[in-house]
Amino acid sequence: MCGIIGIVGKQPVTERLMDSLKRLEYRGYDSAGVATIVDGKIERRRAQGKIRALEDRLLNQPLSGTIGIGHTRWATHGAPSERNAHPHTCGRVTLVHNGIIENFAELKGELTAQGHSFESDTDTEVIAHLIDRQLSLGDSPVTALKNTLDQITGAFALAVLIAGEDNMIMGARRGSPLVVGYGVGEMFIGSDALAVGPFTNRIAYLDEGDFVVIDHDRAQIFDASGSAVDRPIKIVSAAAALVEKGNYRHFMEKEIHEQPESCQRTLGAYTDALTSRTLPTPGLDFASVDRIQIVACGTASYAAQIARYLFERLAGLPTDVEIASEFRYRDPALLTTTLAVAVSQSGETADTLAALRWCKAAGLRTAALVNSHESTMAREADFLWPTHAGPEIGVASTKAFTAQITALTALAVTAAVQRGRIDASQEAKLVKILLEAPRLIAASLKTEEAVRALAIDTAKARDVLYLGRGPMYPLALEGALKLKEISYIHAEGYAAGELKHGPIALVDEATPVIIIAPHDSFFEKTASNMSEVIARGGRVILFTDEEGGAHAPAGVRVVIAPSSDPLITPLVMSAPIQMLAYYVAVQKGADVDQPRNLAKSVTVE
Ligand code: AGP
Repeated sequence: MCGIIGIVGKQPVTERLMDSLKRLEYRGYDSAGVATIVDGKIERRRAQGKIRALEDRLLNQPLSGTIGIGHTRWATHGAPSERNAHPHTCGRVTLVHNGIIENFAELKGELTAQGHSFESDTDTEVIAHLIDRQLSLGDSPVTALKNTLDQITGAFALAVLIAGEDNMIMGARRGSPLVVGYGVGEMFIGSDALAVGPFTNRIAYLDEGDFVVIDHDRAQIFDASGSAVDRPIKIVSAAAALVEKGNYRHFMEKEIHEQPESCQRTLGAYTDALTSRTLPTPGLDFASVDRIQIVACGTASYAAQIARYLFERLAGLPTDVEIASEFRYRDPALLTTTLAVAVSQSGETADTLAALRWCKAAGLRTAALVNSHESTMAREADFLWPTHAGPEIGVASTKAFTAQITALTALAVTAAVQRGRIDASQEAKLVKILLEAPRLIAASLKTEEAVRALAIDTAKARDVLYLGRGPMYPLALEGALKLKEISYIHAEGYAAGELKHGPIALVDEATPVIIIAPHDSFFEKTASNMSEVIARGGRVILFTDEEGGAHAPAGVRVVIAPSSDPLITPLVMSAPIQMLAYYVAVQKGADVDQPRNLAKSVTVE
C-alpha cells in the first residue's frame, strides 16, 4: 500500500516529488507528505487526505531543497490524520515507510522506557527513533540503518533522510518493493517504476532484504547481511512514464476501453497468430503436472475461477482456486506434482506472495501470472507468465482482469495440447477463436450507451444481486465486487442455481437482479431463474448475446453483447459488467479511481 519516492537532485525537488506522488496515489490516499533538506536541516510538509491537500499546503508554505522524500499513505496503524502522516521524524532522522512493523509495540515500549516520546500513533515512527538512537550511539548512518533493520520485523520499504547529510538518501526493502532509479547526476528511489518513470528509465529492483544508499551519482546496495551487492540495471518501457487519463474522465473508464489492446498484447505473448499455435512455457510441460493450485485475491481470484473451468474441461487438469489469505494459514496438503500459480496484477499482494512462498517451500513448482513483470512474485516464481495490460491505475481492476483471463485461457489450451487432449488442428481452431477476442471485446464496448441508461435506475438501489452459471458465475462475483468497491452499493454474486437456496428471499421490486447469461448450454436453466425472480416482483437485467436476447422472458431489461464462442465469452461479457459498475459510480458522484478505504496494491495482511 503507501507510495514512496526519494530524490537526490541537482535542482529543487519538491515539484518532482509531488509529480511522483500523484503517480503513486493509487497506492493509498489517506494522507501525503514531503520532506527536504534545506541548509542542513530537514523541513517537512504534510496534509491529511489526497495529494491535492498537500499541494494546497505547499502553495502557502513552499519547500525548497534539492534532496527530499515523499509519501502517500494507506493507513494501517493510526488514523488517517496529519499527525500520523509521513514523513516521520526523530532527532536527525526523517523517513517514509510502506508496510507494517510487526514488533513496533514492543519496541515503542522499550524506547518509551528510555525516555523517547512519540508524536504519532504509527508503527513507522518507531523506526525513526531506532535509527536516531543508533546515530547517538555513534553509528554511521548506514550502520545505524543496518542495526535498526536487524531489530525490526515485518514487511516494509523505507526511504530515510538524515539531517546534515545533504548528498544521501538511504532505502531498504523487506517484503515491500523498492526500486533505484539512475539519472544523470541525480538518483532516485521509489515504490515502483511508475514513481521514478518520468525521471529515468534506468532502474534496479532491490532484492528481498536489501538496503541502499544513493547519492548524486551512484547507489551502493547491500544485502541483508550487509555485504555490498550489484543489482542489474534494467531499461523500463516508456509506458511507466506515460500514465495519463487522456480524454477520459477516469482511469477506470480509460482502462475499460483499453481492453481490446491489452487482450491483444497479452495474446501475443501466448499465441502465434501465423501458425495458430500456442506458445509453450520454456521448461514447463503440463503433462508432468497432476494438479494446479491457484492462489489469488479479489478480482484476480475470479479470473482464476473462470480459468478453472478451462483447465479442467479442455485439459482434464484438476484445478483448485483458493483465496490466498485462507490458503496460507490452513496448512494445505499438497503434492509436489502440483503446479502452484499465483495470479496477481501487482505481483506484490502480501497474502498471494506468502501463499506462493509457502508452495515453493513445500517443494512445488511455482508460476506467477502477473501484470508487474518485475514484481516480487515475478522474480520469485519458477515461471513468469506475464499479462500485458500495461499500468493499471484505477483501484478497481478491469483490464488486468481480462488480461489474466486471456493468458490463462491460452495456457489452458497449451495444457490441453501437452496433455494430449487435443491435436494440432483443434489447437489451431481454439487459437483462432482466442484471436477474435480483441475484436469482440471492442464490439462489446458498444453496449456503453445501453449500460449507461441502466445505471440511472441501478444507482438508486440499496442492494443488487448478480447471478451466473458456469464461467459466468465468477463473472457475477466480479460484477458484484466491482459495484461494491466503487459505488458503495451492497452487491452479492451467486451461482444462479443457488437462488432458491436462500438469496431469492432478497428479491423485491427495489433489488435489481443482474443475470449474466449468454445463450449457451446453461441458458434455459438460467431463464427459469429469471422467471422465478419476475414472478416475485423482482427486476431482472440480463446481460446476454443476440440469441439470449431473443429468448429472454418478458419483462426483462436486456443488454446485448456480441455472440462469441464459450471459450472467450467471459472476456466479451466483462466490459458491459465493468461499465455498469463504472456508470453507477459516476451517477452517484463517487470517487471512481480512488474509492474510500481501498488501495490498489494490498501489500499488508
Ligand atoms: C479489484 O478491483 C480489487 N481492487 C482487488 O480485489 C484486487 O484485485 C486484489 O487486491 C488483488 O490484487 P492483485 O491482483 O494486485 O494481487
